[in-house]
Amino acid sequence: NNMLSWQRTAFHFQPQKNWMNVITGPVFYKGWYHLFYQYNPHAAVWGDIVWGHAVSRDLIHWLHLPLAMVADEWSRILLIPADPDDPLLINWVKYSGNPVLVPPPGIGAKDFRDPTTAWLTSEGKWRITIGSRINRTGVSFVYDTTDFINYELLDGLLHGVPDTGMWECVDFYPVSKTEQKGLDTSDNGPDVKHVVKASMDNDRHDYYAIGTYYENNATWVPDNHKIDVGIGIRYDYGLFYASKTFYDQHKERRVLWGWIGESDSEMADVKKGWASLQGIPRTVLFDPKTGSNLLQWPVEEVDSLRLTSKEFEGVEVKPGSVVPLDVGPATQLDIIAEFELDKEALQRTAEANVEFSCSSSGGAAERGALGPFGLLVLADDSLSEQTPVYFYVAKGTDGNLATFFCADQSRSSEAGDVNKKIYGSFVPVLKDEKFSVRVLVDHSIVEGFVQGGRTTITSRVYPTKAIYGAARVFLFNNATESSITSSLKIWQMNSAFIHPFSEDQEL
Ligand code: FRU
Repeated sequence: NNMLSWQRTAFHFQPQKNWMNVITGPVFYKGWYHLFYQYNPHAAVWGDIVWGHAVSRDLIHWLHLPLAMVADEWSRILLIPADPDDPLLINWVKYSGNPVLVPPPGIGAKDFRDPTTAWLTSEGKWRITIGSRINRTGVSFVYDTTDFINYELLDGLLHGVPDTGMWECVDFYPVSKTEQKGLDTSDNGPDVKHVVKASMDNDRHDYYAIGTYYENNATWVPDNHKIDVGIGIRYDYGLFYASKTFYDQHKERRVLWGWIGESDSEMADVKKGWASLQGIPRTVLFDPKTGSNLLQWPVEEVDSLRLTSKEFEGVEVKPGSVVPLDVGPATQLDIIAEFELDKEALQRTAEANVEFSCSSSGGAAERGALGPFGLLVLADDSLSEQTPVYFYVAKGTDGNLATFFCADQSRSSEAGDVNKKIYGSFVPVLKDEKFSVRVLVDHSIVEGFVQGGRTTITSRVYPTKAIYGAARVFLFNNATESSITSSLKIWQMNSAFIHPFSEDQEL
């Protein structure tokens, strides 16, 4: 359908057609990054799940490979590479004794899925954790194995949080407190913290928490019980789910993949013939400056897609105004922007919007003393369609500032059958830091990374006018009191090479 074909992305991984579901076993093997993903080969809706497979040298350009596995919906069987010497790992065999893991007594058959990558214990056993629920409490069981065939269920749980429901796609990994690099899943020690992440079937968001792992009794305790799994902070405040990390031993980094669904109607997906994307893979580091969150950033290989760029230095944007940024067509962009509020206005303002929250606000049209200000992406010339990605600054009577990062989809499209929510969250901004954001725009996806990746928002938007050559980008400032000064660099982005597999795929 030509009308909708512009919605396909240019540098995000997606199959040529049908429904892509969650990532399964990402890994770097013999020079290739492997992406496995649940996939419906028959339609652009969930169902008939098999395992798709693609490989890449750089996480950006991909080669589709034949399906790795067919007709097993629930991911806890053992798959073995038929030829471990094949760097592309094209053929897989199912172990004849499957399933190798079954739920413990009293646990529902489907409430037990998505085991993690294994890590080594000091005893030399392999350990995994797997999400589940006990009534309304979301939990993660722990198993030890020496052969990946026989598993011993350990007493107790890695962790559990009441009233969070089924934990899907649990992830568990170490982060370094002192070094700017990723850690192998088995690393541990005094300079290491451990992250637990679970995808909440309840509200379809990925929550993580940072804490301490105790190997002797196979438990994990969050640093702050208020920022626990499922009730605390999220990787992303937009559309981002069922994510999974892997350790990239080639570049010594931990890479996070998130599954990005559609937010149009199922009917539109069927018409388009495809549904869902993988977000740009992100490196994940502990944020030593706040000590309370992770930093997520697009993998450096994305920079290789940058084409021509334009720089804008110290652009002043007055209260209530919009400034066009002349970069030509604006459907494939990488934007880096910094903003400063006017110091005098900041002083002068006694108190502003202390109760602010992005999602319950009126979006970018609602004016406060010190915000909103930021970018309008995927906008047409008349601004009848626009997706604001922006900051909002609140000020308490004590003089303290609180900063929010939001994305407003309410005017993103003239189409009626698309999600028009306002996304966002609080973001820590430290003294002497400017407000900074990186935004990747790729046709129907907008990914925002704020303050070096302390908070992120992924939006799927479906403009009808702000497409191809008609898409523009603007600066805006809808604050009533303060001007802002912004400096930006904006690159046009090349398309990635995502090559189809040549032989007929047996389905
Ligand atoms: C996530 C999920 C996973 C499961 C898969 C089923 O949405 O429910 O828990 O493995 O999708 O397709």
